Amino acid sequence: MDVLPARIDPPARPLSGLRLLAGIVRNPIETWPIEVYKQKLYQSSVLGHRYLFVTDPELIKQVLVDDADSFHKGIIMRRALQPALGEAILTSDGAKWRWQRRAAAPMFRHESLLGLFPSMISCAERTRDRWLSYPAGAEIDVAREMMRTTFDVILTTMLSGRGNIDPSSIERSITEYLESTSWVTALTIIGAPAWLPHPGFRKARRGKTYLKQVLGDLIAEARQNPSGQHDLLSLLVQAKDPETGRSMNDGDIRDNLLTFITAGHETTSLALTWTFYLLSVHPAAEQRVRREIAAVTAGGELRPDHIEQLTYTRQVIAEAMRLYPPAPVIAREAQREIRLGEQTVKAGTVVYVPVYAVHRHELLWDNPDAFSPERFDAEAAKARNRYVYIPFGAGPRICIGMGFALAEATAILATLLPAFTLRLRPGYVPKPKLRVTLRPDRGMPMRLFPAD
Ligand code: HEM
Repeated sequence: MDVLPARIDPPARPLSGLRLLAGIVRNPIETWPIEVYKQKLYQSSVLGHRYLFVTDPELIKQVLVDDADSFHKGIIMRRALQPALGEAILTSDGAKWRWQRRAAAPMFRHESLLGLFPSMISCAERTRDRWLSYPAGAEIDVAREMMRTTFDVILTTMLSGRGNIDPSSIERSITEYLESTSWVTALTIIGAPAWLPHPGFRKARRGKTYLKQVLGDLIAEARQNPSGQHDLLSLLVQAKDPETGRSMNDGDIRDNLLTFITAGHETTSLALTWTFYLLSVHPAAEQRVRREIAAVTAGGELRPDHIEQLTYTRQVIAEAMRLYPPAPVIAREAQREIRLGEQTVKAGTVVYVPVYAVHRHELLWDNPDAFSPERFDAEAAKARNRYVYIPFGAGPRICIGMGFALAEATAILATLLPAFTLRLRPGYVPKPKLRVTLRPDRGMPMRLFPAD
């Protein structure tokens, strides 16, 4: 009886010219032709530039792991994200990237993460308390609610709740900035110069300026009054590059903080938003998650040591990230001429790992568009090629926040689901839209009821 959850209808024939560029501005993922979901490697060419979509697991491994040094983050990533994020951990390459990764790593070791679980639960409880004040049947935008919750988590854990940051201004600034990125992508593809104004240009600049200023103030304050906190800001202030002995200046720290704030809260909030959507249209799975939470917590409050025991709940989140990967495409640029399968790839070629299409690829998954958390049973997961499921990427640039995000999403779901039933606004079908991340195009309006 289950209907297939919302999906993109790929164009049957590749788009070209103005239709392609207009499509990229509207929603780049809608321009990926059907072949990307059927072939192992798909090549397209726009204005003489070659783009390769790589969906074969072995070739994905080559790009992201074995030959990672030969594939850097490319020009589109630089043009779209560097104006806001500078050359911080997500947007740099080589030696510059390596030491920033090492500097931040201690925050994300398992022992450190365990210490953050109580804060994650407290933030989820704050959202639960807010929701309890709403009348039964009230409509909320779960996408915004989850942004707020994960933003609370990132500020509490990474910045120890320092400063006086207004979540809605930050959220608006990030949205304004991300909205402009598809224009930047289209303009980069046609070779337009980086300074060329485009729709949303001013808003993006305003968003960027606001974010930089708020964080600049916070760093100045942290330098003046070292707090003794063991948070990301303290780690970055103390970090030293082992090769050059250099420490981070305020600009480096600011760019990294902004990277962690944006990479860390937006993605996790989208994983949860899509999870709530999927559960609302698959009530049997929803019941099973509730039963598991009740069994593990014995009907009481969620404790930090429960988080890693919620096996089926985690499978549901994993399946939600298969169908709606929060980071739906990983982009690289070949640094030298290199063989990729049957192809010779020239230096400068843009290589996409289209995560959304890999996760729904007909050669890699049975019934790829259907929701089935059973795919992530221990046995089934073990039997699968590691590179067919890559919501966090792979290789040296794999998401540093993977363990953090999985624990956080589980904690939030397991705090909210026992208290509430969420139902999608009748007739509403969310459409996935690519804006660096995969957002529902008009939010996720859902009705909130107390759980029975
Ligand atoms: C469900 C949530 C998340 C998803 C799906 C996700 C996905 C990803 C992916 C795919 C990459 C690799 C990009 C590439 O190879 O080009 C990445 C990198 C990164 N992520 Fe996440 N992420 C999530 C949560 C987080 C969290 C919670 C944090 C921090 C608290 C975080 C911080 C980062 C950083 C700093 C990088 C850059 C790492 C590097 O280049 O060394 N992410 N993420």
